[in-house]
Amino acid sequence: MIVSFKEMLQAANNGRYAVGAFNCLSLENVQGAIAAAEELNSPIIIQLAEVQFPCAPLALMAPQYLEAAKAAKVPVVVHLDHGQSFQTCVDAVRLGFGSVMFDGASLPFEENVRQTAEVARMAKAFGVDVEAELGKVGDVGVDDDSVDVFTDVEESAEFIARTGVDALAVAIGNQHGKYVATPRLNIARLVELHERNAMPLVLHGGSGTSEEDFKSCIHNGICKINVATAIQLGVTEDVQRYLASAANPNYIDMKGIIVEASKRVVADHIRLFESNNRA
Ligand code: 13P
Repeated sequence: MIVSFKEMLQAANNGRYAVGAFNCLSLENVQGAIAAAEELNSPIIIQLAEVQFPCAPLALMAPQYLEAAKAAKVPVVVHLDHGQSFQTCVDAVRLGFGSVMFDGASLPFEENVRQTAEVARMAKAFGVDVEAELGKVGDVGVDDDSVDVFTDVEESAEFIARTGVDALAVAIGNQHGKYVATPRLNIARLVELHERNAMPLVLHGGSGTSEEDFKSCIHNGICKINVATAIQLGVTEDVQRYLASAANPNYIDMKGIIVEASKRVVADHIRLFESNNRA
């Protein structure tokens, strides 16, 4: 069943667990993710990021997401991840997404506030919830590690008050993509951000984070954790193994392998995030 983003995250905030938000690039990813959530009786967020549109076009994926969400036995949110413009957020709202993330994190603070507030005003008019980002979540291997990129505590409070968002993605040393080494997150900063803001916080770049850091995050205010790369790696590994070993490799069986691999990776993360049996 489709539920509200804000309510799902508030329940996670109260229950001190996190809901996994899984980037699904195919019908098989969607099927696997929903099957995992149903099996573990967990709420789930399925999401698509704008950078993924070339491979998974928004207008083609939207009906798959929405139909799967409606038919699911557990609460599901259909979410736009990393919308890069006002127009993309409008497109997602029109297609029926329940929440949108506008990513203005690379903009100067005032411009991030202005553009995020504009998206929030538009989305609220349609009953759609909004996530935004403050601070810099980098990309593995691309960024200069010497700059302070963590979300500033005072700025976060001002940002939330001036934009009216429902959830804030924070930068605490997390990065998108496949880590070369397991990162260590700045949990002290997370604790400060959580104390200052009564607001669900979001961790991006979930893939490859240590179990210890995941636990510290979900017990200190992180209510949503984004996972993309881990699904792609899990699927690729299983498909490689299948193609190397199957006597009669064929497309239909391979689709089944992709569903199962997606389900396994999503289920592992649901357990880590402690959202099982919270549906
Ligand atoms: P990973 O690919 O590192 O899991 O990051 C996912 C993400 O943050 C999507 O917004």
